[in-house]
Amino acid sequence: MQINLKQGQLQQEETELLVVNLFEGAGAPGGALKAVDDALSGLVTQLMAAGDIKGKLGATHLLYTNGALPARRVLITGLGKEADFSVSVARKAAAAAAKHARDLGVSAYTTIVHGAGRGGLSATDAAEALVEGSLLGAYRFNSYRRDSGDKDTPAIAEMTILEADAGKLDDLRAGLLIGQAVGDNANWARDLVNEPANYLTPSELARRVREQAERAGLQVAVLGEAEMAELGAGSYLGIAQGSDEEAQFIVLEHQPKGVDLANVPTVVFVGKAITFDTGGISLKPNLNMWKMKDDMGGGAATAGALVTAARLNLPVHAVGLIPAVENMPGGDAIKPGDVVTAMNGKTVEIISTDAEGRQVMADALCYAQRYNPDAVLDIATLTGSIGIALGLELSGLFCDDDILRDRLLRASEFSGEPLWPMPVWKPYRRLIDSDVADMKNTGGRYGGAVIAAMFLREFAGEQPWAHLDIAGTAWQEENSAFSVRGGTGFGMRTLFELLRAYATG
Ligand code: BES
Ligand code: MN
Ligand code: ZN
Repeated sequence: MQINLKQGQLQQEETELLVVNLFEGAGAPGGALKAVDDALSGLVTQLMAAGDIKGKLGATHLLYTNGALPARRVLITGLGKEADFSVSVARKAAAAAAKHARDLGVSAYTTIVHGAGRGGLSATDAAEALVEGSLLGAYRFNSYRRDSGDKDTPAIAEMTILEADAGKLDDLRAGLLIGQAVGDNANWARDLVNEPANYLTPSELARRVREQAERAGLQVAVLGEAEMAELGAGSYLGIAQGSDEEAQFIVLEHQPKGVDLANVPTVVFVGKAITFDTGGISLKPNLNMWKMKDDMGGGAATAGALVTAARLNLPVHAVGLIPAVENMPGGDAIKPGDVVTAMNGKTVEIISTDAEGRQVMADALCYAQRYNPDAVLDIATLTGSIGIALGLELSGLFCDDDILRDRLLRASEFSGEPLWPMPVWKPYRRLIDSDVADMKNTGGRYGGAVIAAMFLREFAGEQPWAHLDIAGTAWQEENSAFSVRGGTGFGMRTLFELLRAYATG
């Protein structure tokens, strides 16, 4: 979707669809909606008085202008209650409008900016939220739908932001560029998650990530299995050995232009990328196994965040490590009871080959140490247990460093991807004590997400470290007012936001 910015009056705007907004509880139409109401001889006032348009967040109301305005249709998107308004709300209101626009099948539409006036957002934040939300809301995954999908509701080619005040255009454009980079890359991450695992093998993931990353100016290296063997990544390779697909260890590095690397913080992201998780010899049950194509959601979020940081040349040294592996059973596969040695020399007894995520993340976390990082954040669809604990909208945040945890919570508040603090609880370390190795890879039925975090901690190094368990949130089961069922790209926008926080000190 191309995004344009234009100075003008909505009374003169010729378009298939014009998006305006309404706060819930507003007594009478104001601002742009007032101009629409005037042109339509009080129709909006009547609809509001009848209670047909309430301005609830997520609600959209379509009107036909019947020639009273050069715009053919007007769409009113709800902003919710004024007291609850925020960047996240503005993003959602834009997403709901874009989703409705896509369902209508319009090829181009015009929108005003939500929340820069009465909502109290800066013009830059408001434009960023508008563009990002619109891209997220208009998203569909139609790559394999030959007779439906894009044929019914083609992708929207253009969105135009209309602003009456010429003095705001520069700030709006700054926000537009950020919102576009973030929105496009979040949608790219969703594409990667939605991609079937027969297409998106580790090699194909590496190819696609390389393509986008090089275009954005990142340094890219992809290590094969032989190179990882030289590094002693036995934990990672143990999982890789059951698949005919060669594992690919993807390394992305953003070295900002025009700044001395020594003067900026180094942040390393590690994103789990199991392109398909069968469970291996500890085979998963049949029910919903197909969804395990989303087990590379952490890797997708990591790649998206790095590409965005490079596009916007954020003044921060950022590294993304994406261990891409397929977890398969087979004659060569790792077995329960086997022992592997990770890059840091620690040995692990495999109890379940379905706890493969922590095995590949272990070596990737060790690899992160070579950058002497100021912070390491890993993101993984790690445990079904986190979904049991927090449900399907919250991701678990495990972090025992107060500063990093607060930074992440603030980033998450801005991005609208909710995180909930979970314990890094040392007494549970004993639950992964092994009789034959330094640790075992599972620790019983209860507290599975916490135990998994305690396992990762053994490999995370001494610097501040955080772990996001996105097993419940990488995939969305239901369509909502703001987005469609399928891969969410969860974490991509929060990771980017965290980099922004490091970049601004
Ligand atoms: N990829 C799964 C976790 C998962 C579960 C992701 C549900 C998305 C939805 C992970 O590799 C896994 O299988 N974890 C096991 C760990 C157990 C064997 C200790 C689990 O959660 O059951
Ligand atoms: Mn598994
Ligand atoms: Zn997995």
